Amino acid sequence: VVEKQLSQPGGGQGPTVGVIGATGFAGALAAYLLWRHPRFNLTYLTGRSEVGYRHLDLYPRYRVPLTVEELDLDRHGEVEVAVVAYPHGASAPVVKALRDRGVRVLDLSADCRLRSRERYEAYYGSHPHPELLGQAVYGIPELHRDRLPGAELVALPGCFPTAALLALAPLARAGLIADVVIDAKTGVSGAGRQPTPFTHFSNVHASVVPYRVASHRHTPEIEEQLELLGAPLAVQFQPHLVPLDEGELLTCYVTPREPLSAQALQDLYEAAYAGERFIELAASPPTLREVQETNYCRLLAVYDGHTGKVLVFAAIDNLWKGTSSQAIQCLNAIYGYPEDEGLC
Ligand SMILES: NC(=O)c1ccc[n+]([C@@H]2O[C@H](COP(=O)([O-])OP(=O)(O)OC[C@H]3O[C@@H](n4cnc5c(N)ncnc54)[C@H](OP(=O)(O)O)[C@@H]3O)[C@@H](O)[C@H]2O)c1
Repeated sequence: VVEKQLSQPGGGQGPTVGVIGATGFAGALAAYLLWRHPRFNLTYLTGRSEVGYRHLDLYPRYRVPLTVEELDLDRHGEVEVAVVAYPHGASAPVVKALRDRGVRVLDLSADCRLRSRERYEAYYGSHPHPELLGQAVYGIPELHRDRLPGAELVALPGCFPTAALLALAPLARAGLIADVVIDAKTGVSGAGRQPTPFTHFSNVHASVVPYRVASHRHTPEIEEQLELLGAPLAVQFQPHLVPLDEGELLTCYVTPREPLSAQALQDLYEAAYAGERFIELAASPPTLREVQETNYCRLLAVYDGHTGKVLVFAAIDNLWKGTSSQAIQCLNAIYGYPEDEGLC
């Protein structure tokens, strides 16, 4: 059965791609999406553990029959593109080495996302290669599409910043945000594959667990990008773990600078996302089931005349639009392919 599956179902005649860190959740999904993609030629997968295992045996549902290899930059630096799915801190040295060899890189970690070294170091500690900061295109195509064609280094956003920025960008650009509280619920896959007491079934099952109170690492990323959109402000961001595998729902409570009619709000969001393949403006509050295992973000913005607040709901799958399928959307944009190729 495995022998029959050895050629890429998508064809794989185009640019060569490797996935570094394909034993982890995000890298494994990237491998799945690239293996099936009609253009890209997935040539290798690496892992730190489980070297010599078939990916197929680690993640049967993804059905990628390549063997996990140990990273060897001399060999693995031969591809045109590398997707690096390492944790922050471990990622930067690999990204740097690949860039020095002329490899185009999509980094899923936080190591290239921020422009400000101070912001990075306040939340992550010292940066192994601070010269990488500010070099990458921030990989949300709906916000940075013009910089993606031909890009050599793309930093995929954190999952929460993807949802938060898509939810808030129309208001930020219009200068309408005086203050915002972002309340998030997320499934456990956001914490990666290694189990911890925090993500243990007994801690998560039938419960809701607030975590990283007033200190989550995605806060500076949301703030930096909002600033670039025209809304420099301190953001109150609070995530909660819920007993789910994949998916996250954000509710943003915005104090607007001026009262907004329901129609004005609707017009703002429709104008911002007209023609966007992967943004859906929902008629009622979005739920996780509507986006799980898809590259879609579903949004709803509502004006509450009683409090004068704007509520914006955003639902995404953290592993898909929150990282790996968004990476494929970016790759398509880099090469000028339709953004939804391999993602429908
Ligand atoms: N999970 C999400 O929803 C999500 C969303 C957005 C962004 N991201 C980002 O994507 C990256 C990967 O996340 P993940 O959830 O896939 O994590 P994960 O499941 O823990 O996988 C991490 C991968 O990196 C490897 N690795 C771990 N520590 C390493 C080290 N010190 N040196 C070299 N390799 C190391 C692991 O190898 P072994 O397992 O073989 O040891 C594995 O292949 C992270 O930077 C994360 O922040 C994740």
